[in-house]
Amino acid sequence: AERNKELKEKILRLKKERNAIILAHYYQRPEIQEIADFLGDSFGLAQKAKTTDADVIVFCGVHFMGESAKILSPDKTVLIPDERAGCPMADMVNVEGLRKLKAQHPNAKVVAYINTSADVKAETYVCCTSSNAKKVIENIDAEEIIWVPDKNLGHYVSQFTDKKMYIWEGYCNTHDQLSVEDVTRLKQEHPNAQFVVHPECKPEVVAMGDYVGSTTGILKYCRESEHDEFIVGTEDGVLYRLSQDSPNKKFYFASKYLVCPNMKVNNLKKIAECLETMKPQIYVPPHVADAARESLERMLQFQA
Ligand code: 13P
Ligand code: SF4
Repeated sequence: AERNKELKEKILRLKKERNAIILAHYYQRPEIQEIADFLGDSFGLAQKAKTTDADVIVFCGVHFMGESAKILSPDKTVLIPDERAGCPMADMVNVEGLRKLKAQHPNAKVVAYINTSADVKAETYVCCTSSNAKKVIENIDAEEIIWVPDKNLGHYVSQFTDKKMYIWEGYCNTHDQLSVEDVTRLKQEHPNAQFVVHPECKPEVVAMGDYVGSTTGILKYCRESEHDEFIVGTEDGVLYRLSQDSPNKKFYFASKYLVCPNMKVNNLKKIAECLETMKPQIYVPPHVADAARESLERMLQFQA
């Protein structure tokens, strides 16, 4: 605890010196959420990265999030505490594979989940997150859609549209592990609890949800709901915010496997170090960033 206190003080001092802002995803460790200037889901973090007037962004999340911040704010320095914090789902689609699919469906427009590399975004018409995916699909001026990379979110949104969707076979290793059996068992143990679930889970698990949405959506639902018990079907980092928001409500995690190891790679020591050394920084080649920015900006417009 003493060590954490020292590190927090160091981070605070360096942050002022560098005119830096710390952005953190809800899946980060509690001690990181405590020091963050802004906490959010993928969409909220992208919006904040674009609008902040800080000179330096320390992005506590996974690599594609830092990359999206750099693309949206190319003049800012974007630091990530550890370059190895990637997203296995983002790595499931590459440019070569996407180009092949585009050649097979020349009339389709590409919608990419924000969980993709800058290269893939550069081949994309519009990005989306789990909080705006339905809206993006609804409003896009195309009858055919290539959807990458999350098959589970793709299946979820396909239920709300008549458009033809060609869905990539990627998935989130963390959310996809949650099974119907896990949820059924917890529902038996806690018959009055509501089941809140992220659409990155399997379709049959999402179908059991009393509420389906992004991390911000889940937090809002639990905060505002009249219920006081919830079975939570998303990554366990959200527990910090859930219990801060609603200390008298009960939250049961649907599986002990709902932990994203990549999101847990960051720690206070690495945050202090990156602010001190100004490394590692995100770099995106300008021609890739320019093309990728269009798809991200288009997403931001859809939300408005
Ligand atoms: P959201 O934060 O947009 O809900 O996405 C969840 C996720 O898995 C981020 O990697
Ligand atoms: Fe990627 Fe899933 Fe981890 Fe999010 S929770 S970063 S989608 S692996």
